[in-house]
Amino acid sequence: MQELLDKRIVLGLSGGIACYKSAELVRRLVEQGATVDVVMTDAATHFITAVTMQALSGRPVFIDAWDPRIPNNMAHIDLSRGADAILIAPASADFMAKLVQGRADDLLSTLCLARACPLLVAPAMNREMWSAAPTQRNVSQLAQDGVKVLGPGSGQQACGETGDGRMLEPLQLLAEMVAFFQPKLLKNKRVLITAGPTVEPIDPVRVITNRSSGKTGYALARAAFEAGAQVTLISGPTALPEPYGIPCIQVQTAQQMHDAVLAHVKEQDVFISVAAVADWRVANVASDKIKKDPKAKTTHSPNLEFALNPDILATVAALPNAPWCVGFAAETERLSEYAHDKRKRKGIPMLIGNLAQHVMDADHTTVSIFDEQGEHPLPTSAKQDIARQLIAAIAKRLPGNA
Ligand code: C5P
Repeated sequence: MQELLDKRIVLGLSGGIACYKSAELVRRLVEQGATVDVVMTDAATHFITAVTMQALSGRPVFIDAWDPRIPNNMAHIDLSRGADAILIAPASADFMAKLVQGRADDLLSTLCLARACPLLVAPAMNREMWSAAPTQRNVSQLAQDGVKVLGPGSGQQACGETGDGRMLEPLQLLAEMVAFFQPKLLKNKRVLITAGPTVEPIDPVRVITNRSSGKTGYALARAAFEAGAQVTLISGPTALPEPYGIPCIQVQTAQQMHDAVLAHVKEQDVFISVAAVADWRVANVASDKIKKDPKAKTTHSPNLEFALNPDILATVAALPNAPWCVGFAAETERLSEYAHDKRKRKGIPMLIGNLAQHVMDADHTTVSIFDEQGEHPLPTSAKQDIARQLIAAIAKRLPGNA
């Protein structure tokens, strides 16, 4: 699934060593289906060549305001009129100062001033330049002017110093661009999501777990973030990278997940319980590794006893001032019957049901929404696409959500 299909983006580069990351960024944007027109300041060409950016974007690169390649000689108008957004990455301290002042003394600054589309900037500079009073004044002025400021990140800088001012990584900027174009259906809502499996110890080296990959939960976290929500993710162990922009609390056992959820549930608007929580834990966890009995020839096996884990979703749904709760059910048979029953039993307004054999570890999924009105099946699609549809369905049903 290409996430920026039909989007036309002007990628502006001003002068900074982070220009090397913009080569990767343009590749990622194009990979996701965007048409990218690269415009560089003269300073940017000292850090990376126009040839590199042209090869990766597959389109001519513009630098000069007097470029004769555009028939009417108005590159600043033509480039900005066709664009869905302009992203300046890297945005140097000087370029941001120019934007604040409304200066138009080269092609990139002129087309920003002449734009009829949103402007996003990804600052990139030394930490002292970033924290300097004029830069901070300019950043808040840009935000007031409706410019979206992305980052900056923090860490080791090209100059050898460490601090704030690094340009966000290409994949982070890609996530920001994809999010930028999504409707803000959950703007300023607080959403708590659990994802992945839980892991229950048997002894210090053995565990009981399940085949949940975490993909659906992480896709929902991303979709909620894209919809403008403030998301907290509580995750069992998965092979997935922590999603950009979302605080992620890692847990192992169902009890730890329960405790983490209860510690974060206050003042949440929505709780989406996607995690495949173990129903039982081992009650007699051995403190040392359980050994085989060398003398036992055939059926010797350890006796495991089990204790019921707390039902996190039912607990949250029963809280006074509970958030609006959404559950998940992965069944292997009789999905409709079990899902309806589960939704009512847990006392929740919405439950997403799917067949376990279709969902575990797959990238596509087939789900149905179960609510008071009945069952609403969604067509099979990529998990990220399904996640966006589910977030839209939640936003539509959430009481008081405009
Ligand atoms: O009861 P069952 O496990 O089938 O219900 C699945 C739903 O309940 C999922 O939303 C899951 O996250 C949640 N659940 C829970 N705590 C448990 C078991 C399941 O929150 N101990």
